[in-house]
Amino acid sequence: MKYAFLGGGKMAQALALGMLRGKVCVAEDIVVADRLQAGGESFVKATSGRLMKSNAAAAAEADVVLLCVKPGDASAALEEAGVELKDKLLISIVSGLTVSRLSGMAFGARVIRVMPNTAAMVGMSATAIAVTVETAENDVKIAEKIFGAVGGVHSVTENQLDAVTGLSGSGPAYVYLMMEALSDGGVAAGLPRPLALDLAVQTVRGAAEMVAVTGDHPALLREMVTSPGGTTIAALGVLEKAAVRSAFIDAVKAATDRSRELSGDGN
Ligand SMILES: NC(=O)c1ccc[n+]([C@@H]2O[C@H](COP(=O)([O-])OP(=O)(O)OC[C@H]3O[C@@H](n4cnc5c(N)ncnc54)[C@H](OP(=O)(O)O)[C@@H]3O)[C@@H](O)[C@H]2O)c1
Repeated sequence: MKYAFLGGGKMAQALALGMLRGKVCVAEDIVVADRLQAGGESFVKATSGRLMKSNAAAAAEADVVLLCVKPGDASAALEEAGVELKDKLLISIVSGLTVSRLSGMAFGARVIRVMPNTAAMVGMSATAIAVTVETAENDVKIAEKIFGAVGGVHSVTENQLDAVTGLSGSGPAYVYLMMEALSDGGVAAGLPRPLALDLAVQTVRGAAEMVAVTGDHPALLREMVTSPGGTTIAALGVLEKAAVRSAFIDAVKAATDRSRELSGDGN
């Protein structure tokens, strides 16, 4: 199977590298087209894929076309690919662009909309694939294979995709903020900055792994490390007083609402 990337930026490179690492394909199966020569060249340098002169030339080579441009560039990119998209599988990672809007611009391609997150760059994306009644099972399998190479994949309905954006799409930023604050706390408590940051990183990584590996609810794991009259309950009291838990809930809801607004609620 041949793959064409329209847009050779950060996410396209992360995906292509994951596909190569995961042996979904070999470099000879990948082509790219970018608006600027430099963008395409950086993709080619990273992946050894082939640089095509235009989106149409790239799409013509492929069975699967991956739309990896910014939202404002999507319609131009598809217009440039034109009739070469016909009967291909078009997979879009463009935020806020609904399946129905994509289908209207896809020149007869079958469309799948996917929401990965930035951790695709380190093979740890939380990805959701929007499956509609029209999505063919085999096309879902192709998308699962591609995005499975850069992390974990879930199938959702399209109307869940705004909530996915609010949780895992924007979520890395919430965790970065939390890690920054934790390391500031360490510095305030007397630790050198590099040590504080390293401890924050390992703590978040370890806690995530504990939830993933044990399958236990986070509340149970939290209870297990909270001894009567100890240090953890002292800290948890402060977090509850500052309403951190409801702030996270409201943050996910705010990002979900914003995603709905940006996509014109066209789901
Ligand atoms: N980054 C994330 O964490 C993340 C997560 C989920 C979804 N997404 C979605 O992924 C998409 C790509 O994001 P990114 O961070 O990879 O962006 P990026 O690094 O800016 O890459 C986009 C590339 O597409 C090129 N391009 C622009 N117009 C084009 C056209 N008409 N034909 C071909 N190529 C064109 C851009 O060239 P120029 O540099 O010249 O503009 C750029 O090289 C976005 O729609 C975003 O919503 C990103």
